[in-house]
Amino acid sequence: MDEMVHVLDHPLLQHKLSILRDERTGVKDFRAVVSEIATLMCYEATRDLPLEDVIIKTPVATGTFKALTGKKLAIVPILRAGLGMVDGILTLIPSAKVGHIGLYRDPETLEPVEYYCKMPSDISERDVIILDPMLATGGSASAAIQFIKNYEVKHIKLMNIIGAPEGLARVRHDHPDVEVYCAALDEKLNEHGYIVPGLGDAGDRIFGTK
Ligand code: PRP
Ligand code: URA
Repeated sequence: MDEMVHVLDHPLLQHKLSILRDERTGVKDFRAVVSEIATLMCYEATRDLPLEDVIIKTPVATGTFKALTGKKLAIVPILRAGLGMVDGILTLIPSAKVGHIGLYRDPETLEPVEYYCKMPSDISERDVIILDPMLATGGSASAAIQFIKNYEVKHIKLMNIIGAPEGLARVRHDHPDVEVYCAALDEKLNEHGYIVPGLGDAGDRIFGTK
């Protein structure tokens, strides 16, 4: 695996992901666990945030400590399923701005179709983390990354809960500068473009639409 790809295999992530995979998990638990996984993944995906020295007076002594430099961040969920990850990220980064990209996969061609976009006005000054639970063919992720690059964003990360080898290869090929974070890399896609073993349709399971 190359250094731009991070498969996060922390035991808490593996355990929670098994709950998502289980077909018996209902909407309420599915939604809650997607959010928890996003929080845990955010911890890893922000490991390189820059720090600066700050002087703090504790009740005992004055010392030099660390604080975030205040680098501007934005998260961009891919609608719909990416929405399920937003609150989990905002738990750790409450001041992040949130842009939205609406894409759905045409069920016949599996090509992404854009239907909505709203970005923070200062998006070009921000580092962006794109959120989507599923990286299948990689068509949606690759299109979303290109879309955000068109706003002159310099640093983009992609966060998926489950990736397929096909999708990962597509994103690495199209956008070699983008770091990818997954909680699991599964075996393959089936003939309908679903990840195997995967967890099914993430959007339907988050929103209870099936
Ligand atoms: C799912 C998923 C990704 C996309 C992944 O969304 O949330 O956005 O498919 O597939 P790809 O890697 O082959 O592009 P879907 O199109 O089902 O829309 P939804 O989130 O509205 O359910
Ligand atoms: N989108 C999903 O929600 N699940 C898959 O397995 C593939 C694409």
